[in-house]
Amino acid sequence: MPTTTEHSLLLAIVDDLAESGWSQQNHLVAQDLTRELAAECRKRAAQGGLSPASIGRGATQVVREGVRGDQIQWLERGQSAASDRYLALMDGLRQALNQGLYLGLEDYESHFALYPPGAFYQKHLDRFRDDDRRAVSVLLYLNQDWLPEHGGALRLYLKGEPEAGEDQQGERLHDIAPLGGSLVVFMSAEVPHEVLPATRERLSLAGWFRRRGARPL
Ligand code: OGA
Ligand code: MN
Repeated sequence: MPTTTEHSLLLAIVDDLAESGWSQQNHLVAQDLTRELAAECRKRAAQGGLSPASIGRGATQVVREGVRGDQIQWLERGQSAASDRYLALMDGLRQALNQGLYLGLEDYESHFALYPPGAFYQKHLDRFRDDDRRAVSVLLYLNQDWLPEHGGALRLYLKGEPEAGEDQQGERLHDIAPLGGSLVVFMSAEVPHEVLPATRERLSLAGWFRRRGARPL
């Protein structure tokens, strides 16, 4: 069960998604949990548990470092106290989203991601052409002491009033530094985004709430 404070932050995410399609919360995930998850990600990397991320799905999966250069490992329940605590918190978010927005979210899949210095992920939507189950994307950043000069921002391409900083399509760019404890949530089908290269190793935990599929896998 979420605490009262967690509950009000979960409701704030629901309101933000309804209003603008995205939300950032820096206090939902406790600093001690963020640090434990960062340590777990580093440990998995040191043990050789991470593999180059691919793009596409099923038989069409390929590794393309010119598109995305991160290394990932999927989370399973029961692997550590920290990841279970994180998954429980995400289940609270799933329920709040279902109650507030009637999204019918059924499960949550997530992976640790490590971007070596210079790695990036080109502009994309978190939806596969042949699978529209991913409905809401969640990113948790795990980097302590991140400075603006380290780069590595998550760049969101938001709809809205074009203003200074817009690109040709009239989208509004919004950059978010991958600072430890920042949680970013957005509608998977609505918000194109990219990861800019960083000068140091960049750790994140990326996840997706999924609806039941219209078609079998
Ligand atoms: C992704 C993604 C962003 C990040 O894995 O689909 O967009 O900041 N990750 O790690
Ligand atoms: Mn993405």
